[in-house]
Amino acid sequence: MARGREELALKVTAVYPHRAERYPQLRYMGSKHRLLPWIHEVLSEIEFSSALDAFSGTGCVGYLLKAMGKRVVTNDFLDFSYQIALGTIENSSTILSEDDCAMLLDENPDRASFIQRTFSGIFFTPGDLLFLDNIWANIPRLPTPYHKSLAIASLVRACVKRQPRGVFTVAGDPERYKDGRRDLRLSLEEHFHESVALYNATVFDNGQPCRALKADVFAVPPDDLDLVYMDPPYVPRADDNCYIKRYHFLEGLASYWQAEGTEILEETKVRKIPKRYTPFSYRRTAVQAFEDLFRRFAGSTLVLSYSSNGYPDLDQLVGLMQKYKRDIQVFEKPHRYHFGTHRNVSRDRAAVREYLLVGS
Ligand SMILES: C[S@@+](CC[C@H](N)C(=O)[O-])C[C@H]1O[C@@H](n2cnc3c(N)ncnc32)[C@H](O)[C@@H]1O
Repeated sequence: MARGREELALKVTAVYPHRAERYPQLRYMGSKHRLLPWIHEVLSEIEFSSALDAFSGTGCVGYLLKAMGKRVVTNDFLDFSYQIALGTIENSSTILSEDDCAMLLDENPDRASFIQRTFSGIFFTPGDLLFLDNIWANIPRLPTPYHKSLAIASLVRACVKRQPRGVFTVAGDPERYKDGRRDLRLSLEEHFHESVALYNATVFDNGQPCRALKADVFAVPPDDLDLVYMDPPYVPRADDNCYIKRYHFLEGLASYWQAEGTEILEETKVRKIPKRYTPFSYRRTAVQAFEDLFRRFAGSTLVLSYSSNGYPDLDQLVGLMQKYKRDIQVFEKPHRYHFGTHRNVSRDRAAVREYLLVGS
């Protein structure tokens, strides 16, 4: 056990904001959605009024913080994560109306056919791909960036639901999967309608000016935020932790493959885009990256999510955090991940202990 590490029994003091439970759950590597009540228990022991969710992913932790009444800033270097946070956390009042949705579904004679040409026979059905090209021709007609972000978030959720294992690593026409799952039976358009209703329902004003950022974490200014929540990728024992490899389709879709870094790699079977470098993905750079992270945000209370199957290990992380914070507390919870890119993820590997390190 690491020096200075304490196991704490939590006394539940604050009521869990059920709004957070209703936040749309995306099948996403490392999502903390199922851990939100526990994260809330830990966070509600800490006094703070503003927070950065530095690796926001699906946005569920940032949204929990918003539901707790905090001034929230979110950040992720992926465009689709940013769009979700823009629509659900920064946005406090805009929703997609029925008229907006009808306009999005209007047949647009000027639509391009990029998605149909690029992904035909790789992902989804011809009807789904046509739907995506057509809706993207109409998205620029939405009046504000918040409308657009809600439309993009809804498309992202629709695509994850309709994709057999929620990832875009292998080609797979959903018609081939005959297991009768509702998620695979519904068209992308049907999933889109359900997703709009769910994301619209997340929109509320907590009275604080919340913001969403899209940047490398080392470019985020270490502002005057009281608390920084960090949930970076960890170097896994096997496989890799590349988000682009799994979610390249969503990242391209967020800008209709117009943003820098979304150029299709034509030689790849599933039409990937270039990997995004992050030092958290490699053994040789991860330890230094954690130290840089803790140093950068040392002026705030640090809260780090960690799972027992990651590298570096817990004691090493505690040691690194102790360089910048005097008091380190470690909270622990068993957790079973229901996510895997391979069917043979063993039960042992999938059963991990989840930790929250709090440095103040
Ligand atoms: C474990 S996930 C976060 C999951 C999130 N807490 C949730 O519950 O959905 C890690 C996230 O870190 C992002 N990421 C990785 N390296 C980054 C970097 N250098 N700067 C910013 N974001 C990064 C990834 O895009 C990914 O969304």
